[in-house]
Amino acid sequence: MRFIIATHNPHKLEELRRILRPLGVDAVCDRDLGLSLTEAEETGATFAENAYLKAAAACRESGLPAVADDSGLCVDALSGAPGVYSARYAEPGQRKATLLHRMEQVPEAQRGAHFTSAVCCVFPNGDTVTAEGHCYGRIARACRGEGGFGYDPIFEVEGGKTFAELTDAEKDAVSHRGAALRKFAGRLAEYLNTHKESISC
Ligand code: IMP
Repeated sequence: MRFIIATHNPHKLEELRRILRPLGVDAVCDRDLGLSLTEAEETGATFAENAYLKAAAACRESGLPAVADDSGLCVDALSGAPGVYSARYAEPGQRKATLLHRMEQVPEAQRGAHFTSAVCCVFPNGDTVTAEGHCYGRIARACRGEGGFGYDPIFEVEGGKTFAELTDAEKDAVSHRGAALRKFAGRLAEYLNTHKESISC
């Protein structure tokens, strides 16, 4: 069964492919199909709404079941910012520094933050399968680590390492996206089992 992954982020594409493969899902991106999906506007107020908007647009344009993730970092001391605006917070290349600067005066006990990932699959018949995952941690005082992407170097998890200091497998085991995708994989398998007859992709 072929699904299109509605993302232009190679890290997300790889994580989604890894998790969906054991379900017999052939996860492709628009370029694999010679398509160029329009980037859906993220006008939703929540991660779940934005994931739905991206998946629904990709499903409409490709005619295939489409999976999208919307994710971001919510910082307690900043009233949940950058949240759904994580990808648009400050200029590209300035996001981590801007966040660190705004957190400069915030004491250790108030540096809590969490990542959220909402995953949504939209089928051509309008059905949806969704899941959400979270990872709780804190904002570091400075960037540490070479791995990952986005805010990884400034997000510390249990044990004190940042996401960027973990291996891919270690990050998957504790991350918001890992949690969302594990839940999602279970729900998708259940959906596919009960709709075998009516779905052909
Ligand atoms: P979007 O889901 O494509 O709107 O982008 C979410 C933004 O949140 C990304 O551009 C990253 O800056 C950030 N983000 C989401 N997940 C992660 C992660 O696992 N590590 C670091 N940053 C992330």
